[in-house]
Amino acid sequence: MSFFKNIFKKSKKKEIDYNNLPQHIAIIMDGNGRWARKRSLPRSVGHKEGAKTLKRITTFCGEIGIKYLTVYAFSTENWKRPKSEVDALMALLLEYLKNAETHIGGKDVRIKTIGDVSVFSDEIKKEIDRVTKLTGKNTGLELNIALNYGSRDEIVHAVKEIAREVAHGKIKTDDINEKMMIDKLYTSGVPDPDLLIRPGGEKRLSNFLLWQSAYTEFWYTDVLWPDFREEHIVEAILDYQNRNRRFGGI
Ligand code: IPE
Ligand code: IPE
Ligand code: MG
Repeated sequence: MSFFKNIFKKSKKKEIDYNNLPQHIAIIMDGNGRWARKRSLPRSVGHKEGAKTLKRITTFCGEIGIKYLTVYAFSTENWKRPKSEVDALMALLLEYLKNAETHIGGKDVRIKTIGDVSVFSDEIKKEIDRVTKLTGKNTGLELNIALNYGSRDEIVHAVKEIAREVAHGKIKTDDINEKMMIDKLYTSGVPDPDLLIRPGGEKRLSNFLLWQSAYTEFWYTDVLWPDFREEHIVEAILDYQNRNRRFGGI
């Protein structure tokens, strides 16, 4: 049975048009808690499984030639969760970063973060620094991990920077344009996502990439993030490739 299942998966992968790949895929990694609850396990176990999924999906995206992968790992609103869950997520983040070289080893992945990471512990900040430097010269997939990320916070942060430049006489108010905003966002230098995937059944952005997703194609699935596999990415890409992106034109 699994033999046929594998053949099916492989043939689906072959259907991808490699000349029309989404350059940038964004994922809201949702559903870890429900995955654990369904098994009567603590939510932290769901997060652990979710971290495993992230590793395999990162590898797969790199292998098929995706250039940018942005994943929502911790939002500015996730601090509202019980301290025990936040602590478990922080411990998992630290572990993920500490072991970064083993799970991306030889895969040419460049790891970066988006969001206000200044609030994290010194230990986590040190690891973020280490991992971004360690992988900074890699030329394959760029993995952007959204940590303490909120799009509204990001936009406010960008507006403040521009306001400062106006106050210092560097630019005039009338010179403010979209390009300037884009350059001040945490995602500066990264093209807008072409495809945004949300597992876990919800159909909302939850404060993720509000500015950047103006023309992004959305794809949702009820599959929970810990159960999300390569075949689901393939399904999303195939669906994406059947869409007509008009960007307001005809
Ligand atoms: C996503 O899974 C992980 C984070 C938000 C950190 P959830 O923890 O939101 O899982 P559900 O949505 O409760 O199932
Ligand atoms: C979005 O998921 C944030 C992350 C996946 C990190 P949430 O579980 O926090 O979103 P809501 O609360 O369902 O909107
Ligand atoms: Mg959730």
